[in-house]
Amino acid sequence: MGGMTERKEWEIMQTKYWMANPSAEAADPAIIEAAKYLRSGKLVAFPTETVYGLGADALSTEAVEKIFRAKGRPSDNPLIVHIADPGQLDALVLEYDTSVKKLIEAFWPGPLTLVLPVRPGAVSPRVTAGLSTIAVRMPDHQMALHLIRAAGCPIAAPSANRSGKPSPTTAEHVRNDLDGRIDGILDGGPAGVGLESTVVEWADGKAWILRPGGITPEDIRRLGLAVEVDASLLSIAEGSSDAAPRSPGMKYRHYAPKGTLSIVQGDDSRKVRAYIQERIDEAKAWGEKTGILAFEEHLPHYRADVVLSCGTQDDLSSAGKLLYGALREFDRAGVSYILAEGCREDGLGLAVMNRLQKAAGGRSIHI
Ligand code: TXA
Ligand code: MG
Repeated sequence: MGGMTERKEWEIMQTKYWMANPSAEAADPAIIEAAKYLRSGKLVAFPTETVYGLGADALSTEAVEKIFRAKGRPSDNPLIVHIADPGQLDALVLEYDTSVKKLIEAFWPGPLTLVLPVRPGAVSPRVTAGLSTIAVRMPDHQMALHLIRAAGCPIAAPSANRSGKPSPTTAEHVRNDLDGRIDGILDGGPAGVGLESTVVEWADGKAWILRPGGITPEDIRRLGLAVEVDASLLSIAEGSSDAAPRSPGMKYRHYAPKGTLSIVQGDDSRKVRAYIQERIDEAKAWGEKTGILAFEEHLPHYRADVVLSCGTQDDLSSAGKLLYGALREFDRAGVSYILAEGCREDGLGLAVMNRLQKAAGGRSIHI
């Protein structure tokens, strides 16, 4: 298809918008119609408990190809397949270990994606980008589950953002990125966790964390399973890792705001604050539009054009919920220079720092 035709296709695409209560019944007309769209090979964005996903019938190569075009996603980055019942897993993957069953029992439905050997021919080869494994998850969101059930097929769904933008945590974010490029948006209110699912590959008797998320390494260890967190996921190793990442998506610069963002970390939080304020004042003097992303507790200490909260340090789930919205808000306000406070990398902090590192393109200052 030539460039002209493609552009024309985007121009004429009318994005249908459905509003529904997150606890809507399976028979909700919005869900039924959205499912019909999916069954006929159309693209529909829908809420999950992590972020909004951009769904397509995982069995249809034509439908899946549309996802890559709408997002501008590199074709070597495989998609997660969403199911509504653990029983659907067997049709997608080859045999798996009893430890995998433990993970499923403990965390499904929920923000855990499992990477397992794919059953040949189970989905379009475009979903797995030619890998011998497939990523599968069962979201913990009533509307998503009703939609997948009504569609009657496994749903391939990456986050519903344009490639390189933060994942959408509201239908409004999806609209800003994909209006006119997809067939429909099912609005079920803000997503819960705010960060994408934990991606875990089960191999060699261990859970390999390929992408940190709402299910933490500690959560998995508590089941008595061995967990391996790739060193490249820790902030200290960012930019210095030469090993190819096991999860193709981790090699792309993601979640990047338009302004230049750097993380400032240190044990002495007063020093960190003083440093941030000094750099911001300097940047302001050069004519930058400045932004600070800080924990609630520290907000009164800062002066900048835009100061945003990333929740409270005592409960990092609030940081997860607020992070992507804040990155988008800096863009909206035209902020060109941003400093963000870092946090510790245990529990959910591992996922929060991983996404911040991505947004910062590895720019991290330790003081
Ligand atoms: O929370 C989520 O996971 C959201 C919601 C919509 O479910 N989805 C999501 O999808 O974040 P996406 O496409 O933005 O991220 C999928 C990640 C990528 O890093 C991709 O490389 C990795 O999963 N992935 C997919 N299949 C894989 C496979 N077979 N092996 C290793 N990594 C895989
Ligand atoms: Mg994504």
